[in-house]
Amino acid sequence: MKTSDTVQERIAHLTSDIERHNRLYYQDDAPEISDDEYDQLFRELKDLEAAYPELAAPDSPTRRVGADPVEKFAQVRHPTPMLSLDNAFTSEEVRDFDARIKRFLGQDGPIAYLVEPKIDGVAIELVYEGGRLVQASTRGNGLVGEDVTTNIKTMQAVPLNLVKRRKLPIPDRLEVRGEVYMPLEAFEKLNEARRAKGEPPFANPRNAAAGSLRQLDHRITARRRLSMFCYAVARPEALGVETQYELLQALNSWELRVNLNPNDLEVCEDLDRIFDFYRRLEQRREELPFEIDGMVIKVNDLALQSRLGDTARSPRWAMAYKFSLVGAETVVEAIDVQVGRTGALTPVAIMTPVRIGGVMVSRATLHNEDEVRRKDVRVGDTVVVQRAGDVIPEVAGVVGDKRPPGTVPFAMPETCPSCDAPVVRLPGEAALRCDNASCPAQIREHLYHFGSKNALDIDGLGGKLIDQLMDKGLVSSPADLYDLTLEQLADLPRMADKSARNLLEALERSRRTTLERFIYALGIRHVGRGLARVLAERFQALEPLRRAEIEELEAIDEIGPKVAASLVSFMLNSRNHSLIERLLDIGFTLEPPMGNTGRLAGRTFVLTGALEGLTRAEAKARIQAAGGKISSSVSRNTDYLVVGDKPGRKAREAAELGVAVLDEKAFVELLKE
Ligand code: IVH
Repeated sequence: MKTSDTVQERIAHLTSDIERHNRLYYQDDAPEISDDEYDQLFRELKDLEAAYPELAAPDSPTRRVGADPVEKFAQVRHPTPMLSLDNAFTSEEVRDFDARIKRFLGQDGPIAYLVEPKIDGVAIELVYEGGRLVQASTRGNGLVGEDVTTNIKTMQAVPLNLVKRRKLPIPDRLEVRGEVYMPLEAFEKLNEARRAKGEPPFANPRNAAAGSLRQLDHRITARRRLSMFCYAVARPEALGVETQYELLQALNSWELRVNLNPNDLEVCEDLDRIFDFYRRLEQRREELPFEIDGMVIKVNDLALQSRLGDTARSPRWAMAYKFSLVGAETVVEAIDVQVGRTGALTPVAIMTPVRIGGVMVSRATLHNEDEVRRKDVRVGDTVVVQRAGDVIPEVAGVVGDKRPPGTVPFAMPETCPSCDAPVVRLPGEAALRCDNASCPAQIREHLYHFGSKNALDIDGLGGKLIDQLMDKGLVSSPADLYDLTLEQLADLPRMADKSARNLLEALERSRRTTLERFIYALGIRHVGRGLARVLAERFQALEPLRRAEIEELEAIDEIGPKVAASLVSFMLNSRNHSLIERLLDIGFTLEPPMGNTGRLAGRTFVLTGALEGLTRAEAKARIQAAGGKISSSVSRNTDYLVVGDKPGRKAREAAELGVAVLDEKAFVELLKE
């Protein structure tokens, strides 16, 4: 220390230095000093603070990151339970909610509601005592959660100390609730890095946030760039504010992070304004820098909130109004069990047809045995069926008080419903499986997969035709398709001569294909389109892939032990062996991928917005055919952003990063070149 430096100045200097290096290391991924140099600064500051405790700032960086990793999370009891929210999926249910509140309060006039986005993250409680953050915990089961204080303290968005700005005093004890989330940009970067390292990407920002918070080593959490919005406190009556909106302002004034963006917040006195907000929010959803799954409607007046109180599960004064996941009630008439291509048994609810979001739904997946048991869905039950976008409809849950007498729990069959072979459950798997390779249901699904669009794309080979061919005993393996004659086909009921000819032509065409499609068409467990491409690129031909050993496969970044084992056992299986032999005898030509020799080799494209002349899938295929790569998010590594109609967030990101932007015309030109 220079003699002219007072201790106080040195502390200030070290603090700002360390904060700068924290930013460079944790946020910019661009450290300027070595870990040792950093540790030296850190230690010096810690020592000075120990020697002069009166000069130690309560929010010193030594208190943010620096503790040792925990071994496991301690349990934390929430003095006020952390409740969940009731969900509404339709405007009808929102009207019911409003009517219920008015009935409960015995009030006719309008109620003021505060509406705001529902952040898709992890619910967290922060406890401040004397203005200091003393504990942070997850929701857990609502009564008991996990202590994640050390991890939460690494987040820039969470103040270690509250700041008194307005006349409003900071309460002695404050239990603040909010949502910790991962901003989309951070999420995309994290997944990119994970993929590059061969680690599985997180499925969505919520999982990423949850996974990042549950790190035993808080230094990992610190690197994950989490953020937080606060939206509630336990027992708000004590704070001297009268409305939910004032509560948010109070939290904000103490420097807690609150979403006060005027577009994201509104006090609505009538339902039409709520519906209007919902529509606008849904439109803006794509542009927001964080993921939301709907909006939350809250009675604004805190006195009314307290009169309404809670049920065991959720407050009566609030409701989540979810996006596009549309649901309806119907009755389960039967539970069928389907056998998939790989033998997995999937229970499917067969229901009285019901209209959901404009489409009629009569079947919904129940996923697997554990799911059915967890939801306890029985034949005769009234269930809520949900549909999100174009995803397969799903049974969200049973309407308990509508269960008729005499129902029995559903049990999975002990033998395959298609071939009667005994079913097995492999360790570590959720699915029951039929292990019989000649099971007709599996063969049917395999044939269907073999001819599907992304596999060999055999036009005209639909489910009905496959059933007919199998019933007549004409086909029991994909290779049999190539032995079919015009007479055999024309003989089938409802098969016109022209369709028969077309199918034969399609089969003929399918023999010239890419290695990638061929690998995918084989239907190897765990090998989807992405991995088929990886394998085709790596092996360039079928023979070396057939002979590949576990170690060789595992050495490939994208391939883990499970996939490697599945590939090897597939190739060793005698049935699969003879299928491949037969297909090769038929004269398949398998084009290796262009890989790095294409014109667009090494170029990375991001697509956004709808193109006029080609679909998303076509655009991707053409880029890949020319050796280019597709990424889902714009980064410094992006070469081109192709923008269609309504570009949105990505166009802005591209502009900020200086990424070349192509409109449709320029893109088509580039492909032609
Ligand atoms: S208010 C008593 N506001 O949604 C519950 N919750 O599905 C008060 N959530 O557990 C919650 N955004 O984790 C509220 N703006 C918001 C929210 C929000 C997300 C989460 C919260 C809750 C879950 C219920």
